[in-house]
Amino acid sequence: MKEVNVIYWSSTGNTQAMAEAVGAGVEEAGGKANVIEVSAADASMLKDADSFALGASAMGDEELDAEMDDFVTTVEGICSGKTVGLFGSYDWGDGEWMRKWVDRMTAAGATVVNGEGVIANLTPDDDAVAECKALGAALAK
Ligand SMILES: Cc1cc2nc3c(=O)[nH]c(=O)nc-3n(C[C@H](O)[C@H](O)[C@H](O)COP(=O)(O)O)c2cc1C
Repeated sequence: MKEVNVIYWSSTGNTQAMAEAVGAGVEEAGGKANVIEVSAADASMLKDADSFALGASAMGDEELDAEMDDFVTTVEGICSGKTVGLFGSYDWGDGEWMRKWVDRMTAAGATVVNGEGVIANLTPDDDAVAECKALGAALAK
């Protein structure tokens, strides 16, 4: 059984709901999901995995929150050759924070699932939840 870590940062629960849906997708596909808030995570737990998921909402001016940004900087050093699923919630923007994040992981040598992140406007609706589950299923393969 494949174990997939799903690590997220969320301020009001929107990206957390997406993380839980990604985790559900992993489990529905027969894997084991560990859904972990970034403050409880350590990048070393991703070192031996060939795939994992990272989620965070748009903060600042189309940026990651500082805590997640620091975590991602560490992950950049260990993600070459790995498959990464990205997801997160936003409000008034056009998803620029996620495009920048995809570019960042790709530049670090990772393959981003579908070449783009799963994004949801505020609380994930049924379509976004389904996309998150599909992301989890892809990572569980
Ligand atoms: C300080 C702050 C900065 C934000 N910056 C952006 C932004 O640059 N672009 C955007 O689309 N939404 C922005 N948002 C909106 C959040 O991304 C949105 O509310 C999201 O649903 C929060 O998800 P979360 O509960 O997972 O943190 C910002 C919200 C806050 C509080």
